[in-house]
Amino acid sequence: MNKSSLKEHVEIIRQAFGYIDQFKGETFVIKISSELIASPFIPILIKDLVLLHRMGIRIILVPGARSRIDEVLATYGMECKRVNGVRVSPPESIPFIKMAAFDVSNKIMTVLAECGANAVIGNWVKARSIGVRNGVDFQNSGIVERLQSDIVENVLADGLIPIFPNIGWNAKGKPYNLSSNELAYAISISLKAAKLFFLSNGGRIRAQDYDVPEGTSIADDGTITQLTVTNAGLFLERNNRKKRDPCLEMINLAFQACSSGVRRVHIIDGAAEGMILKEIFSNRGLGTMVYANQHENIRQMTSADIPEVLGLMQPAIEDAILMPRTAADLEEKVDDYYAYEVDGTIHGCGALHLFDDRQGEIAAIVVDETYENLGIGGKIISYLVDRAIALRLKAVFVLTTQTSDWFAQLGFTEATVADLPPQRRKHYNQKRNSLILRRCLARRQGKIAASVE
Ligand SMILES: CC(C)(COP(=O)(O)OP(=O)(O)OC[C@H]1O[C@@H](n2cnc3c(N)ncnc32)[C@H](O)[C@@H]1OP(=O)(O)O)[C@@H](O)C(=O)NCCC(=O)NCCS
Repeated sequence: MNKSSLKEHVEIIRQAFGYIDQFKGETFVIKISSELIASPFIPILIKDLVLLHRMGIRIILVPGARSRIDEVLATYGMECKRVNGVRVSPPESIPFIKMAAFDVSNKIMTVLAECGANAVIGNWVKARSIGVRNGVDFQNSGIVERLQSDIVENVLADGLIPIFPNIGWNAKGKPYNLSSNELAYAISISLKAAKLFFLSNGGRIRAQDYDVPEGTSIADDGTITQLTVTNAGLFLERNNRKKRDPCLEMINLAFQACSSGVRRVHIIDGAAEGMILKEIFSNRGLGTMVYANQHENIRQMTSADIPEVLGLMQPAIEDAILMPRTAADLEEKVDDYYAYEVDGTIHGCGALHLFDDRQGEIAAIVVDETYENLGIGGKIISYLVDRAIALRLKAVFVLTTQTSDWFAQLGFTEATVADLPPQRRKHYNQKRNSLILRRCLARRQGKIAASVE
């Protein structure tokens, strides 16, 4: 391996370590399309999911069954019509639909067992009938009524991987055929998942096929890489003529999930090797990500904010956590500063100072004591990291005396004075002896970039 590719490998490993800490104990809901389950890629994908499980991420699997149901129904000479893409499931089709649903779940369970992971298939979904819509009786096709999340929590706490077949039951035990996409969405909301994945068997969402809102992130090959939840809403409005497009169905569910507390939804091609790991552990995700805008309260600081921001910094300056700063210092670099504001009051601030060698210094991070431990500090850092990636910086660093553990939790790793930009090295205060923490930012493929967590 030559020196530069070795360096790149090391950077990727560092990035991965940062994300592992961040995701430990978080819930990921993963819907795997039925075509992907039938493909030769499934053992590799499941192996990667088992790795995530071993790292302490709570994995929940929802196998799609659509094409398997088609096969089973065809084998038994049965046909179910579809209305607006939804299968009408007469009672006599249900034994065959259940057979197909449990068949794909069993297949996933077998591959998990081969990888040494323990899983359990369960009946944790209460469902009800879709009913009669526009004169069409959908019979045993149902929608999720509610999830028995306490039972699923216990399963997860026991270190098992729950597998959800796309069947739900009403209070009297009547089974319903559910959409596995909608099931995955409902589970992600109910269990407050950090991430929801829709894994398909090939195909990407390409900008050229849609009317795309301004500010959408598009990769060089035309794949839509990122949509804020606001842009996902606009995207759906502009493209609603394509009602039966499966990509629109997933973006719609992603939009609803992110509007209801799920942080990120990833729509990715599960057939490409390592896609899910790349999407999670690097800044080089290759699918489409819809994400909740966590940064709506953050804006650039203005000169008028300086007295309030100085007041906010004062306690940390007095405790020697922050270097003293004057109004003139802030004024000189006013464009580098950002404020976290709620209802006209600034609760937190931070700065990103740029250097010639494509590094950025994160500095002046403070949160009002009354609002500590509410995630504001983390959001300010994630905002500044997003800015740094958008500016195509290669790394951000921070100098700290008392807050290194907090930055380590946010994916920063220890660095040395030699890692600092030459201009900053000159001004490093040996007496203060601050620790240096750094986070590498691989360039994300795309015209507009943002961080992955
Ligand atoms: C550090 C600071 C910005 C964190 O802001 P915040 O909004 O409370 O942070 P978050 O809510 O995102 O994170 C809170 C978590 O970080 C932990 N944390 C806070 N300060 C920490 C520190 N100095 N070291 C380690 N962990 C710390 C909290 O215990 C909490 O942990 P939990 O999630 O396990 O409960 C804020 O405490 C602050 O303003 N401190 C004084 C100024 C400062 O240290 N700035 C950094 C200068 S380099």
